[in-house]
Amino acid sequence: MRTLRTIREVRAALTPARHAEQRIALVPTMGAFHDGHVSLMRTALSEADVVVVSLFVNPSQFGPGEDLARYPRMESDDAALASDIGVDFVFAPAVEEMYPPGFATSIDPGPVARGLWGTSRPNHFAGVATVVARLFGIVAPDIAYFGLKDFQQVAVIRRMVADLALPIEIRALPTIREPDGLAMSSRNRYLSDDERARARAIFLGLRDAADAYTAGERDLRRLVDAARAVMQDAGIAVEFVELRDAETLGPYSPDRAAVLAVSARVGDTNLIDNLVLAPQITAAPRKIETWSA
Ligand code: PAF
Repeated sequence: MRTLRTIREVRAALTPARHAEQRIALVPTMGAFHDGHVSLMRTALSEADVVVVSLFVNPSQFGPGEDLARYPRMESDDAALASDIGVDFVFAPAVEEMYPPGFATSIDPGPVARGLWGTSRPNHFAGVATVVARLFGIVAPDIAYFGLKDFQQVAVIRRMVADLALPIEIRALPTIREPDGLAMSSRNRYLSDDERARARAIFLGLRDAADAYTAGERDLRRLVDAARAVMQDAGIAVEFVELRDAETLGPYSPDRAAVLAVSARVGDTNLIDNLVLAPQITAAPRKIETWSA
């Protein structure tokens, strides 16, 4: 496995694969790998000929007062793991390579980036869309992999790819969870033991609401309140619990698949999670991400 630093190096490294018409995959990450990243990388390896993992803590998606400075950076551990898994290239550029002097373009993803996690982070998804578009321009992958824990991010990227007619397939993979249900996140490492124990209530709250949904509950307020109550009882500061249409992120409609989305603060750590509730699926096992009725 090779670590590449510059756009020139990426283009040179991928030229043989392009000439051989091999399928190139990109897994965009900010590093601090956990099993969610591993799942993206392994799936990419099984579906493409060449896998590039980008590792870049993108400043433009962090707001003032957020955790840009303390975001975990552990490039050598990440590179070793990627190499063990069989990844071909890690692209770990400096900030100046991604945002050279004069860089001025920003992608506004439109309504899909507003509401939910975009409400309190007004520039976050523009930062994500812009850096992902630049990574797409650098790597020119045939396929790119994202985790559904960042549900709105996936919607933003799908919107961007469709609107800009980018010839890239977007694969969104299920959230990987700890045994107690907590969604894996690079930010989980900020949690103290007590916070980690309480953080479990995020998933438990979502699951209680999902179970009510499976039992036939369709009232938005009651579903949201069921989830929120479990989290608040565990001393978690809930930023929002919202039920939205899973496809458009617009208003919830009881007869369409919905996403139950949460943003919560445990101590100083902001955690996000979601579950998709789908009326049309009849037998979803409890372990996967979709609850059904
Ligand atoms: O999901 C992430 O890790 C980041 O938002 C991404 C997609 C790598 C863009 O910086």
